[in-house]
Amino acid sequence: MGVSINKAAYTKEVPEDRLELIDALASMGEGTIMFVGDVDSGKTTTVTFVANELVKMGYRVAVVDSDVGQKSILPPATVSIGFLESPVEHLSQVSPSAHYFIGITTPSEYMGETVVGVKRLVEIGRRNADFVLIDTTGFIRGRGFELKRLKVEAVLPDLVVFIERAGEMGELKRAVSGLTGVVSLNASSSVRKHTHDERREIRRAKWRSYFEGSRLVEVDVSDVPVTGTLMFRGRPLTVEEKELLERLQDWVVFEGWKLGDEYVVVKADSGRVRYCRGSGVRAVDLESLSNLIVGFIDGSGLCLGLGILKWPRFSEGVFEVLTPLDAETLSLASELRLGRLRVTEDGEELSLLRRCDL
Ligand SMILES: Nc1ncnc2c1ncn2[C@@H]1O[C@H](COP(=O)(O)OP(=O)(O)OP(=O)(O)O)[C@@H](O)[C@H]1O
Ligand SMILES: [Mg+2]
Repeated sequence: MGVSINKAAYTKEVPEDRLELIDALASMGEGTIMFVGDVDSGKTTTVTFVANELVKMGYRVAVVDSDVGQKSILPPATVSIGFLESPVEHLSQVSPSAHYFIGITTPSEYMGETVVGVKRLVEIGRRNADFVLIDTTGFIRGRGFELKRLKVEAVLPDLVVFIERAGEMGELKRAVSGLTGVVSLNASSSVRKHTHDERREIRRAKWRSYFEGSRLVEVDVSDVPVTGTLMFRGRPLTVEEKELLERLQDWVVFEGWKLGDEYVVVKADSGRVRYCRGSGVRAVDLESLSNLIVGFIDGSGLCLGLGILKWPRFSEGVFEVLTPLDAETLSLASELRLGRLRVTEDGEELSLLRRCDL
């Protein structure tokens, strides 16, 4: 059996506690509801069901998809909001109205971005819908616990719906119950677990679908500043400084900047590798920039869409980026923000970078 791009849909009858939840929401008449649970507990299936039922009752419904690794509303590596026009079979059929750029599919080093993104999009949802439903990652342990708590503290939802198998959400429930209403649903016994490989295949299909029909565009980085990195800050290095670094480190230096006492240098190793820890020189490998996910950011900090950085032509101040965005949308971009995931347009994830790598 092939892997479906949409893994969440009720296949059998609806559990009783979901119907009770619908009744409770209908009596609220409006609200922001966050759905939290372990991996493969049925969060997305439940959000889809609740969204559909509320739409059928005539409510305006927004869905904020914050499951950066397994997004239903494309593209991956962002947080997105969409409004339901009518009931949908899968949330992937909801067309996105706005995105916030995260730049990677695992939020643990990007908790700030994830929380800000969810908060910004929920505000849009509250202005334009009766109900805002927030789907989340299954990342609930370790830093994931803090991420969920921070999201609740930032967004202050009216209700958090915990989907649990055996009381595993008890601690988080206690941690947030002073801030929000809480309710627990049983994770359905028919929920199907997905392996790591299946999840990667699902992501591959999503990347491929998003970048289908993309074209290469040239981004003038003096016009559209590059952000989300230590590069491009301070003053550019002089020719002498570049030559000195090349001799000292055995590098080819493509570009560099000096800010305060620190140098940031884009380089390739020319044979022997000598590291410069503690020298005040931060080195970015040119190779780590190829196939890097980038976000086109508008003047309000929201993300217009993604691109794949194919070739940074530092000497000309031009980045070649593959993107499905049209010229009109691109003209709204006021920043090109660097992510930390390298992926090809065929959906092959090449590597994840650390936040501090760029
Ligand atoms: N009540 C149910 N009856 C039958 N199948 C279900 C039910 N709930 C979920 N499933 C199936 O179980 C799988 C996991 O569900 P779902 O994708 O909703 O979980 P999730 O918590 O959103 O997962 P993730 O952590 O990946 O976001 C899906 O294949 C879905 O179709
Ligand atoms: Mg899900």
